[in-house]
Amino acid sequence: MTYPHQPVLVHEVVSYLLHKSDGTYADGTVGTGGHSLAIGKGLEGKGRLICLDRDPDAVNLSRDRLVFLGKGISVIKANYSDLDTILKQLNIKALDGVLLDLGMSSQQLDNSGRGFSFTREEPLDMRMDPDDELTAYHLVNTLPQQDIERILRDYGEEKRARLITRAIVASRSKRPIETSSQLAQIIKSAFPPHPPDNKHPATRSFQALRIAVNKELQNLDTFLKKIPRLMAKGGRLVILSYHSLEDRLVKQTMSGWEKSCTCPPDFPRCVCGKTVLFRRLFKKGIKAGQIEIEMNPRARSAVLRAAERM
Ligand SMILES: C[S@@+](CC[C@H](N)C(=O)[O-])C[C@H]1O[C@@H](n2cnc3c(N)ncnc32)[C@H](O)[C@@H]1O
Repeated sequence: MTYPHQPVLVHEVVSYLLHKSDGTYADGTVGTGGHSLAIGKGLEGKGRLICLDRDPDAVNLSRDRLVFLGKGISVIKANYSDLDTILKQLNIKALDGVLLDLGMSSQQLDNSGRGFSFTREEPLDMRMDPDDELTAYHLVNTLPQQDIERILRDYGEEKRARLITRAIVASRSKRPIETSSQLAQIIKSAFPPHPPDNKHPATRSFQALRIAVNKELQNLDTFLKKIPRLMAKGGRLVILSYHSLEDRLVKQTMSGWEKSCTCPPDFPRCVCGKTVLFRRLFKKGIKAGQIEIEMNPRARSAVLRAAERM
């Protein structure tokens, strides 16, 4: 079987993550299992790998793909922001490594039928987890104008947010916006006929709506607040981000973890009790090389960051 999703920077992910082959690891975003497959092979049947995804299709697909690796691999439908609860249920005290490969997979874009792609005629859904209540349809058709504008600006860094939102509101006042291609057309109408960059005019708005529907930044923030408590000393955290909002959050959090006492220098003794939680393995995010980008265009925007629990 071929898998539409090509994992990014696999060699780098495995080499920063795996530091003991009998350790316990988690892949919080298993997707179609590309990274987990490489991690599972690296464990050589000795360690344990807990794979999570909030999308039930991803769970089924990667479970089938990874089953041959044996009993050490578990694939579970869960949000990575609930990793603490999952570890408790599995009676795991601490992890030796955790991977997050953020965003959505090519599988979701091309085959989910949930309206992630502006090139397809699909219901406007965009939920990674179909058990969630909020859909893109709900956001686009019911949210007040200024809230849609804020989503497009904050999560899509879309300069034309106001014009796009006006077009959406004008259109939905006639009839509901039902499909991804209908929305893409409306967004396009807010742009000049030949926009300066090569991107489809709906790229940023679709990204923004997906982030809002799936509360992607909130989940990442919750995860980053919990993760220091869930990792063993020497454990490695590896995160791949695909847009500046999530990368900024990862970068700022990792650099904050490196700081010890933050009390003012004239305090006679420390009252904040802050200790160094992680040490970054490298300061500048790693990017894919030209050859990988040519073979896998998704790699173009990827930034890898890694840190070690102190
Ligand atoms: C870029 S893909 C991962 C691809 C994977 N590394 C591979 O090699 O196939 C991101 C995956 O993360 C999942 N995801 C996104 N947010 C999540 C969350 N908060 N909890 C669990 N899974 C999440 C998506 O459903 C998607 O399958």
